[in-house]
Amino acid sequence: MIVLGIESSCDETGVALYDTDRGLLAHEIHSQIDLHALYGGVVPELASRDHIRRLVPLTTQILHNAGLQRGEIDGVAYTSGPGLAGALMTGALMARSLAFSLGCPAIGVHHMEGHLLAPMLEDETPPFPFICLLVSGGHTLLVQVEGIGRYRVLGESLDDAAGEAFDKTAKVLGLPYPGGPHLAKLAVDGDAKAVKLPRPMLNRPGLDFSFSGLKTAAITELRNNPHLSKADLAASFQAAVVDTLLAKCERALKQQGISTMVISGGVGANQLLRDQAETMSAAAGWQVFYPRLEFCTDNGAMIALVGALRLNAGEFEELAVNIKPRWSLEELGAV
Ligand code: KG4
Ligand code: ZN
Repeated sequence: MIVLGIESSCDETGVALYDTDRGLLAHEIHSQIDLHALYGGVVPELASRDHIRRLVPLTTQILHNAGLQRGEIDGVAYTSGPGLAGALMTGALMARSLAFSLGCPAIGVHHMEGHLLAPMLEDETPPFPFICLLVSGGHTLLVQVEGIGRYRVLGESLDDAAGEAFDKTAKVLGLPYPGGPHLAKLAVDGDAKAVKLPRPMLNRPGLDFSFSGLKTAAITELRNNPHLSKADLAASFQAAVVDTLLAKCERALKQQGISTMVISGGVGANQLLRDQAETMSAAAGWQVFYPRLEFCTDNGAMIALVGALRLNAGEFEELAVNIKPRWSLEELGAV
């Protein structure tokens, strides 16, 4: 079964073709970063308009790259939430219309389920059950994954997401949007021990996170000490976020008696996070899996994959355009 996947929940237009027999056939991503950089954050209306411009040419492109005709598509998957309502609507309408014209089924996919299962696009896939640390610009979640559609949210951020804290701190450091990767680059030349920053919520039980206080502490250090090295602050901030994320992962793995861990979402591209996760899991005898870097951030491949798994299992959606700007992972059904 060949499934076209469409991602348009935020500021990336992603399309992909996934075959349940042969795996990923083709994919393309168009990032809107340049479009929103001027405003220091995503402007929803501009995002929707750009998705409309990109969706059809990108789809034509991947069909060409895979050497397929439109008529060979057996199903269409689209991100139906969570995300920006207008942006979601563009992908949903394109997916629904195309499926209707081809006479094939369409299915709405949960964006976070895409991030959770993205490592299944790789040759070596994580065995169930695993604990996923899902860290993106909008979410910080620790999820126990028992199987496809069987998710238990063990912990989440009570305020800023990890990526959001990276981006806001980077902005104060004068770095371009989105600041996460720029801050990480600046941190390479900094001393992570130079500035003492809190490791929030570690002395409390439970698996929730809070990054707003850490972000404010970093920004206050810079305001109070204008001569502080920006690289030192970046390195100290990054180390505090990574320590906090991994301490909660370790707690979750031990508490649930699970030895497989997945790191996904945009912040999952962070090299320090990956290096420290490797060190932690090697010491404990755990295994850690990640999607390749381009599938950590938003992409169509993860949506095509989830759509293919669900359509192949016989899931079916009535002819309607479904978008859910807010949507809990735990509402999903098992496959
Ligand atoms: O998953 P994603 O592409 O979009 C959302 O669904 O939010 O994640 C984007 C987030 C941004 O906050 C970005 O700054 C952050 O991921 N990010 C990073 C790195 N690469 C991307 N944060 C820290 N280090 C990185 N290398
Ligand atoms: Zn995402």
